[in-house]
Amino acid sequence: MSLVSLADLLKKADQGGYALGAFNCNNMEIVQSIVMAAEAECSPVIIQASQGAIKYAGLSYIIALARQAAEGVSVPVVLHLDHGTSFDQVMQCIRFGFTSVMYDGSHHPLEENIAQTRRVVEIARVFGISVEAELGRIGGTEDDISVSDAEAFFTDPAEAKRFVEETDVDALAVSVGTAHGQYKGDPKLDFERLAEISRQVSCPLVLHGSSGVSDESITRAIECGVRKINIDTNIREAFVGAMRTVLVNNPKEIDPRKVLGSARDAGVEIIREKIRLFGSSGKA
Ligand code: G3H
Ligand code: 13P
Ligand code: ZN
Repeated sequence: MSLVSLADLLKKADQGGYALGAFNCNNMEIVQSIVMAAEAECSPVIIQASQGAIKYAGLSYIIALARQAAEGVSVPVVLHLDHGTSFDQVMQCIRFGFTSVMYDGSHHPLEENIAQTRRVVEIARVFGISVEAELGRIGGTEDDISVSDAEAFFTDPAEAKRFVEETDVDALAVSVGTAHGQYKGDPKLDFERLAEISRQVSCPLVLHGSSGVSDESITRAIECGVRKINIDTNIREAFVGAMRTVLVNNPKEIDPRKVLGSARDAGVEIIREKIRLFGSSGKA
C-alpha cells in the first residue's frame, strides 16, 4: 500500500476504543521491524521520525525507506514527523511525502502556539495531511525535575479545549506525567486530568514518553481517550540489547547482517507486544 494519512485511522481507533502505535525509526532495520510487526499483527501502524532521526539518516532516506516499507505490506502505514520544530520543517516534510506531521509549539506561550499550529493546520489540510500538536510540556527523564515541578507543565483541560477549538488539530499530545527516555522510577500518570482533557476536547489524544509506562497504565490511558501512543526507548533497548548479545557471545563476528538481523528480530518482537497491548491487532 502507499503511505496513508493519520486522520481516518484515528477516527476508526476512536470508534473501536483502541490506540495506534507510533514507533520511532532511525535506520532501515527499525523501519523494517515496524512494518513486519504491523503486518504480522494485521494492524495499522505509524512510522515516525524525530529530529535526531532526520539528522542521523537524512530526510530523503527516511521517506524512501518508509515508502518502500509501506509498499511491501498490506496494512495501512503512516509516515509521521515527530516533534516538528519549525513551520519550515513541517512544510518541507509535507512537500516531500510525510502523510502526517507534528508541529510542537509547546515551548511557545499559548497564543503563539495556537497561531503557529493554526497556520500549519490550514496548509496541511489542503494536502490531506493530518496534524498533531502539543500543549503542556513533555520533558525528558534526563531533565531531572521533581514531580511537583513537572506538574507545572501538565496540560490544562480548559486550555486544551480552547486550543483544539481554535486550531482544529487532528490529535493533541498532552502532558500528564510521562517523559521521554528511560524512567528512574515508575511514572505516575494523572488519569483524572487525562479523563478531563478527553471530556473537554473533541480530538483524539496522544501519549508521548510511553516506554516504561506499565501495561495497566497504558490500558487506562486508552480508556481515557488516548488514541496514539509513542514508543522509542523500548525499541532502542530491544534493538541495541540484541546487538550487544550477539557481539558479546560472538566477539569475532564481523558480519553486520548477523548483528543487525538479530536486532531487527528483537524490534519486531517488542513492537508486536506493544501493538497487542494497544488493541490495534486485527484492525487493519
Ligand atoms: O521525541 C522523542 C524521541 O525519543 C526523540 O529522540 O531525537 O534522540 O531521536 P531522538
Ligand atoms: P519514549 O522514548 O519514552 O518511548 O518516547 C517516545 C516519544 O514520545 C517520541 O515522541
Ligand atoms: Zn515525544
